[in-house]
Amino acid sequence: MKGLILSGGRGTRLRPITYTSAKQLVPVANKPILFYGIEALASCGIRDLGIVVGDTHQEIRDALGDGSRFGVRVTYLQQEAPLGLAHAVLISEAFMAGEPFVMYLGDNLVREPLRPMVERFAQDRPAAQIFLARVKNPQQFGVAELDGDRVVRLIEKPERPPSDLALVGVYMFDACVFDAVKAIRPSARGELEITDAIQWLIDRGKTVRPSVISGWWKDTGKLEDMLEANRIILDGLEPRQDGVVERSEVLGKVVIEPGAKVVESTIRGPAIIGRGAIIEHAYVGPFTSIGDGVVVRSSEIEHSILLEGSSVMDIGARIESSLIGRNVSIHRSETKPRSYKLMIGDRSEIGLL
Ligand code: DAU
Repeated sequence: MKGLILSGGRGTRLRPITYTSAKQLVPVANKPILFYGIEALASCGIRDLGIVVGDTHQEIRDALGDGSRFGVRVTYLQQEAPLGLAHAVLISEAFMAGEPFVMYLGDNLVREPLRPMVERFAQDRPAAQIFLARVKNPQQFGVAELDGDRVVRLIEKPERPPSDLALVGVYMFDACVFDAVKAIRPSARGELEITDAIQWLIDRGKTVRPSVISGWWKDTGKLEDMLEANRIILDGLEPRQDGVVERSEVLGKVVIEPGAKVVESTIRGPAIIGRGAIIEHAYVGPFTSIGDGVVVRSSEIEHSILLEGSSVMDIGARIESSLIGRNVSIHRSETKPRSYKLMIGDRSEIGLL
């Protein structure tokens, strides 16, 4: 079995963060989302991973290298443009060399243990195995219509969904998927859709096995989903204090990385404080990930993600439900006239009091 991780595409819903960074590398609990997928495949015993990359390939290459730190061999598959998930499969044909494979969307987080499912797939060898989860907003996903445990129809982002069963971003395929991705035509949005490729298999009487997962799963394309994924992952962390804590209160599940310093502050977990971060006269509340080298001074923040190198200083009100990019500076300005002084990238979103 080989693995295919899709890490190309455009992160339009996470702009402006994704103007300067691949969406798959935005961290959740201080670890890039993409790493969770790679670890999940490695834990199934998959050693050969194809990573589909696009415009942001250099950043992805810098983050993953040859894959040895994850115990896998990584081969980069360059996609000339984000032409769809089935197009990503199409360009991986030579790499797969006839072997069955697990495809994992690089911006998805799936906490269901994959190993038993991979083993079952390898044993029974259906043409495809798909995973489904019940969601409140099926319009935003590929949706499945089932008849008992048979998949009848798959539709990509339907206006009137036939069910609440969304396609989760993990798929398993036999080599016959390559016939399907070559046969289908681009959808109305101009992409080769993996849903159409799977439908093609169904229409030709191939076995496409559905499995409804009950564990949590997140497509982290949007801010709210990132914050929720962050919340869930932080909740599962083992507390640990490797940094310096002075005259402070640290409550609940809190990870303090080496080189971090917490002084005269309150940290209420679940939270993670990255390497070299400084928290001084501050409050860091539940579900907050403080990145490496971040400074929070005389300020309060909770239910948020702060990426590395940022600073929050002397802010009068609590910051919450926020995603703050790399090397951002938020501070109180003492210069007159008393006014907001901003330098903000395109498509940023600021909620002022
Ligand atoms: O998250 C699950 C959903 O993922 C499924 O329910 C949908 O059926 C499926 O089409 C997909 O929908 P999205 O609109 O969320 O896909 P997105 O464009 O975000 O792409 C998913 C990942 O694949 C992301 O990491 C980017 C990467 N990608 C995407 C495209 C279109 C590529 O590497 N190449 C591509 O051409």
